[in-house]
Amino acid sequence: MDTFSRNLRDHSALIHARIEEHPFVQALFQGDIRREVYGTYLLGLHEIAQALEQALLRSDRDPALQQLHLEAYFRREAIAQDLRHFPTAQPLRPALAAYLNDEPDAATLIAAVYVRYMADLGGGLMLRPRLQEFWKLQEGPDQGLNLYRYDEDPNQLRRALREQLNQVNLSVHEENACMEQVLRIFQLHWEWFDQLWEL
Ligand code: HEM
Repeated sequence: MDTFSRNLRDHSALIHARIEEHPFVQALFQGDIRREVYGTYLLGLHEIAQALEQALLRSDRDPALQQLHLEAYFRREAIAQDLRHFPTAQPLRPALAAYLNDEPDAATLIAAVYVRYMADLGGGLMLRPRLQEFWKLQEGPDQGLNLYRYDEDPNQLRRALREQLNQVNLSVHEENACMEQVLRIFQLHWEWFDQLWEL
């Protein structure tokens, strides 16, 4: 059966496959990345997480967003802890953070929730053991990998996010707008990865 979360996945499958091949993403997964570039990446993720979390908290009276319970997915604090472990180059200020700071509508926010939280729980969790191996990090609560540490089972979190997205009350028009925004948000990641790749 077609569900909204299935439509989101189908709609973004191509760009997902392409972004996995982005040279910055490839370098991340191959450990071919300087610590200060990873730190700068974290700094950008922090800015995006902050913009997203604040926008979600601001719009908690929107009828569609009111139905979502997302605190378990928030990453800002975890990223802030990780930032203590990595040097940074000059901040790049990802355009996605500015986009989310600019009064996003419900469709845009839901698109950002889908892309960011599924990216963290998909590729993000695959990245964790690689970074640990490349940088010879010990297991432990604060080795700079808190971004990839959740209080709840990640499989359950992924399932729950899809269920929440399927239950959210959007008109057909809003669902279509959301799917367009998903592509836009992938594109904004792409442009930010281009900048990171040039560092
Ligand atoms: C090499 C890099 C990446 C790998 C290996 C990867 C891997 C994965 C995997 C395995 C899943 C499926 C999770 C599951 O449902 O069990 C997933 C989902 C997802 N990833 Fe990635 N990912 C990568 C990069 C990215 C990037 C850069 C983004 C966006 C910024 C992204 C966004 C998403 C989204 C939105 C989903 C949900 C797709 C769906 O609805 O099933 N991923 N990823």
